[in-house]
Amino acid sequence: MNVPHGTPRLAAVIVLAAGEGTRMKSSTPKVLHRIGGRTLVGHAIAAARAAQPEHLAVVVRHERDLVAAHVTEVDASAVIADQDEVKGTGRATECALDVLPADLDGTVLVTYGDVPLLAGDTLVSLLAEHVGSGSAATVITAHLSDPTGYGRILRDADGGVEGIVEQKDATDEQRAITEINSGIYAFDAAVLREALAKVGTDNAQGEKYLTDVLAIARGAGGRVSAHLIEDLWQTEGVNDRVQLARLGKELNRRTTERWMREGVTIIDPDTTWIDTDVTIGRDATVLPGTQLLGATTIGARAVIGPDSTLTDTEVGEDAEVKRTEAVLAVIGAGATVGPFSYLRPGTELGAKGKIGGFVETKNAKIADGAKVPHLTYAGDVTIGEGANIGAGTIFANYDGVAKHHTTIGRHSFVGSNSVLVAPVTIADGAYVGAGSAVTGDVEPGQISVARGRQRNIDGWVARARAGTKTDAAAKAAQDAQAPTRHTDNSTEGQGQA
Ligand code: UD1
Ligand code: CA
Repeated sequence: MNVPHGTPRLAAVIVLAAGEGTRMKSSTPKVLHRIGGRTLVGHAIAAARAAQPEHLAVVVRHERDLVAAHVTEVDASAVIADQDEVKGTGRATECALDVLPADLDGTVLVTYGDVPLLAGDTLVSLLAEHVGSGSAATVITAHLSDPTGYGRILRDADGGVEGIVEQKDATDEQRAITEINSGIYAFDAAVLREALAKVGTDNAQGEKYLTDVLAIARGAGGRVSAHLIEDLWQTEGVNDRVQLARLGKELNRRTTERWMREGVTIIDPDTTWIDTDVTIGRDATVLPGTQLLGATTIGARAVIGPDSTLTDTEVGEDAEVKRTEAVLAVIGAGATVGPFSYLRPGTELGAKGKIGGFVETKNAKIADGAKVPHLTYAGDVTIGEGANIGAGTIFANYDGVAKHHTTIGRHSFVGSNSVLVAPVTIADGAYVGAGSAVTGDVEPGQISVARGRQRNIDGWVARARAGTKTDAAAKAAQDAQAPTRHTDNSTEGQGQA
């Protein structure tokens, strides 16, 4: 979101987030619930920042410490304002002004911490219209077919805004008005400060209403304007979990549409969930049932899904990730992952590398072109370029007390069904025989075979399983090859030195 050239100076944005949010029925404060991977107040802060205010204040009260800590984490330069026991949006705004510079002048915007679809562009338009019209106050309004619960916009015969009346204070005639107060405003700082000092609590809720500022400003000769918007989603607040899901779905619809317009193929936007902070390269394809979460980035032409969940994961160009769960992983360019694999934090797969089916990795650095194709657990490992890890290999990294590391050298080969008991190092250009339990290091050029020798015992079936179908089959086979039947009682297994 770029602020267009010539956008007026903005002194401050005040985000109101002190309310309790009782209808969420949650032990988490309402503004800390998330959609699109960001908290509701996180969305509000992002929209506010898009308008480039000199100051940003967030008003807190309910679960004050939790909300304040989160706000500071999202935006270290946001100022926290504590609301006192006096209730209402007007009091909340006053508490914010108290922590902003006393000589603050120019325009102040007020928004809510629980209106997550409000776009930064809308605040920029509000600011431009407010300053351009020389207004003392400008309120964002919308026409709703069902305005129940909202404050109503009162207009005079000429269409000028006279004030706002709350649902609970409104007459039947006023309740029939469909133009509502979004709760988002632009004010001249001095007008706001002076008017708030005059606002009382003589109303149905006994609260200090911010809405009263409009009539006071107008009474003092100021111009009060309305900025009517058509996109109703931008004014909708979250009050309960039904609205949380509704707005989350709409946000996702907007996000998937944005990426499709940027050149990403999304086969089924309805079953694809993309968080707000995700980025996706051109000509990438996202298959159904896929969730791209957190700060995930997808490179150009990569193919992701179906049924994959990537969290804070980086996928390189031309990579393919199928039916995979990945958290804090890096997947190199042209690499392939899945199906049915689980990449845990610290997994780094190199360019053109492979993590195949039913593989779990954790803290695993797998170099360019290395392959872990089937049924493996690889925890705390470094695997060199071009190495191949056989099916069913287990990197035993935990001895019951501590985690240890395993290193596999360049172009080395681990035979199937091996256990590598960490700490252990397999050098560059070394082999491990299939079925080995390796507990010591292997030098370059060596093969390590760490398993029982193969023993074949002649006549065992005839003695121990006489009369069974197995015995009959053996006899038939022996009769057929009778003249050449070899009688060694022991042979060495494949891969033996
Ligand atoms: C408010 C408006 C109403 C508008 C509606 C839009 C007032 C008096 N009424 O009503 O005209 O149509 O929003 O959604 O302003 N908050 C505080 N401190 C408080 C009270 C509220 O920070 O003491 C915050 C809440 O956290 C919330 C926002 O202000 O984010 C709105 O509060 P809420 O109680 O939902 O206001 P409404 O009664 O819906
Ligand atoms: Ca509300």
